[in-house]
Amino acid sequence: MLNLKSPIVKLVLTLITVGVVAGIAYFMKPPIGYNNGYQPEQPIPYDHSLHAGKYQIPCQYCHSNVEKSRHATVPSLNVCLNCHNNVAADKPLIKRLKAAHQAGESIPWVKVHLLPDYVKFNHKRHIQKGVQCTTCHGPIEEMKEVYQYSSLSMGWCIECHRRPEHNAPISCDTCHY
Ligand code: HEC
Ligand code: HEC
Ligand code: HEC
Ligand code: HEC
Ligand code: HEC
Repeated sequence: MLNLKSPIVKLVLTLITVGVVAGIAYFMKPPIGYNNGYQPEQPIPYDHSLHAGKYQIPCQYCHSNVEKSRHATVPSLNVCLNCHNNVAADKPLIKRLKAAHQAGESIPWVKVHLLPDYVKFNHKRHIQKGVQCTTCHGPIEEMKEVYQYSSLSMGWCIECHRRPEHNAPISCDTCHY
């Protein structure tokens, strides 16, 4: 029989518990960087391949801050309803959009890309220099569900900054505070 009072058994049980808790904490923490292929489920199945692909709605119609600020931002429901007050208004998913809007709620979209806080990144400079959305985000206009295409690792940033055609700064304080 296992003697639960034995110090060795207690130690082993404690170690197993700590290991399990640490393991769970590790997998539950919000993903940062290094998540190629990360594709969280969204509260409404919003389809880029339909909107940006088939109907060719420009990226910046919805991600209107991308040229102005750090964050490209995800559009508010007002933007969706510009069209969906009329377009497909009888479809159940669109009724959900309208109901949320009327209730003053927003859709809790799950973030796909996330850099650690200690990294300075700004869309603005990149867009101004003509780097395309797809260079970093991949073929979004073909994605039914957005996934993380690039690694967002430091090596990935620096590799591109070093390219002769970009000649972008690579000193540490370019990207770190
Ligand atoms: C140089 C690479 C690069 C380019 C070019 C780029 N992005 Fe991003 N994008 C990123 C990174 C890195 C993040 C994560 C930023 C963070 O977590 O702070 C991101 C995040 C986002 C997000 C999530 C919201 C946010 O701002 O954090 C959206 C939406 C987005 N990008 C849209 C676009 C669109 C639209 C374009 C083209 C007009 C574009 N991006 C061009 C690298 C890029
Ligand atoms: C510029 C116009 C336009 C905007 C803006 C727009 N959509 Fe759409 N959306 C469409 C069109 C067109 C369809 C295809 C309708 C059809 O197949 O009958 C569609 C279809 C959809 C569908 C599928 C409906 C179904 O069940 O068949 C969903 C969900 C959706 N849009 C969500 C959104 C969300 C969320 C936003 C805001 C982030 C948005 N749309 C913004 C034009 C737009
Ligand atoms: C009609 C509105 C609309 C258009 C047009 C649109 N997007 Fe989006 N985009 C959204 C919405 C809503 C989300 C949040 C839901 C999701 O992640 O699918 C999103 C999410 C994203 C994300 C992931 C953000 C994150 O959480 O990290 C990227 C990257 C992105 N879009 C890039 C693009 C690019 C590039 C284009 C043009 C090719 C584009 N989008 C066109 C509405 C739009
Ligand atoms: C596809 C190429 C590419 C990738 C990938 C890329 N960058 Fe850049 N980056 C550029 C270019 C081009 C510039 C503009 C340099 C200039 O203004 O001359 C720039 C400029 C910047 C600047 C502004 C520098 C300044 O002097 O103000 C910062 C900060 C920056 N990038 C951070 C990042 C970070 C962080 C990442 C990775 C998450 C990243 N970049 C990924 C091409 C890239
Ligand atoms: C072009 C942007 C860029 C430049 C330049 C840059 N970094 Fe980073 N750095 C990043 C990004 C993005 C991350 C987060 C992703 C990762 O850990 O790879 C990061 C992460 C780090 C980390 C944390 C790594 C970890 O595993 O937690 C350290 C430490 C670091 N950088 C130090 C430096 C030093 C020192 C320099 C100068 C020699 C430098 N960085 C230059 C973008 C940059």
